Amino acid sequence: MAFEEIAAREEQFQLATYKKFPFAPVRGLGSWVETSEGVRYLDLYGGHAVCATGHCHPRVVESLKAQAERLLFYSNVVYSDVRAVAAEKLVACAPDEITKAFFCNSGTEANENAMRMARMKTGRESVITFTGSFHGRTADAISATFLGKYREIGRPNVPGHVCAEFGDIASVAALADETVAAVMLEPIQSMAGVREAAPEFYRELRRLCDERGMLLIFDEVQTGVGRTGEWFFAGSDAAGGVVPDVITLAKALGSGVPVGACLTAEGVASAIKENDLGTTFGGGMLAMAAVVATLEAIEEDGMIANARAVEGYLRENLAGVPGIAGLRGRGLLLGVEFEEPIAAKVQKALLERGIITGTSSDARVLRLLPPLCLTREETASFVEALQALMEL
Ligand SMILES: Cc1ncc(COP(=O)(O)O)c(C=O)c1O
Repeated sequence: MAFEEIAAREEQFQLATYKKFPFAPVRGLGSWVETSEGVRYLDLYGGHAVCATGHCHPRVVESLKAQAERLLFYSNVVYSDVRAVAAEKLVACAPDEITKAFFCNSGTEANENAMRMARMKTGRESVITFTGSFHGRTADAISATFLGKYREIGRPNVPGHVCAEFGDIASVAALADETVAAVMLEPIQSMAGVREAAPEFYRELRRLCDERGMLLIFDEVQTGVGRTGEWFFAGSDAAGGVVPDVITLAKALGSGVPVGACLTAEGVASAIKENDLGTTFGGGMLAMAAVVATLEAIEEDGMIANARAVEGYLRENLAGVPGIAGLRGRGLLLGVEFEEPIAAKVQKALLERGIITGTSSDARVLRLLPPLCLTREETASFVEALQALMEL
């Protein structure tokens, strides 16, 4: 199908809820996608942080094919060989304090379940989240989202959601009374413009949660599964070594096959009983095969070390480029910060040069969420294109 026809049909039959790039990728490999018109793009957006193993990683494709031929789906009322391996592997990648996985289908669903676990564990109802937070679009998760107009879109909001200042422990302490079940945060706020707090903030959060009987939930839907140059932000030096009670995941976890998860510490796991949580599709065989293959591909190809190396290269080579104020974030969750609010203009100009990037709610920040297999040469071609643009 030619692009004009694809666009016209989609516009006729699909609700226009997204502003779209003016092309239709029909195949992909590694960090590249190819459009219906045969044009190749270097993908530094990764389908919104999903394609961490790159497009169509052979291990993932082979594993999905093999699983599809064996058994596409059965629900959680049966045991499953592939689910057993996925849960064991995922828990093994996580910090030692994490002992169990619960599988669902998306990031918003993972966050809904995490908040429910906190309410079940504590018998309390409120949840503290932060200025600039994004946690998803279902009722509870959108009510926990204080970025932009999302709470307005999600009206009526679920009661009991209160907002502290990201990075400011005093503002959390002021809200942390005996009604609060959990403090939930993206440890690096991606949509807000790749904002990270000092390690001390996460340490103080952990201390406050323990002191006041609240659970700590890290929404690692974007930061998890290798993206920040560690399997998880939880437990990392950047987190001050802090491990939360629940880690939520989605996006990269299935290399594009929809899958979400909550990883829980034993104190939470032991409070959850039969029938407390559930989902038909969560833990299905095809999704679980995607999880296993994704974790193996990241491990075997050394993608976490690569994410750190590419970050280092970008830091070195973007420093001093005129008009660039800095590089936020870590690993391959990065925000190029400009001196002026020109991120949308730069994104468009890069797209015209065959490079896909993302914007954020901060007009000065261009987001990079590329596959973790991005090579040095591919990174260099982005740096060159950006340098040329900034010197115009
Ligand atoms: C940090 C974070 N949490 C939750 C979500 C929601 O995930 P999903 O779109 O899979 O429901 C997103 C999506 O962008 C996200 O970035």
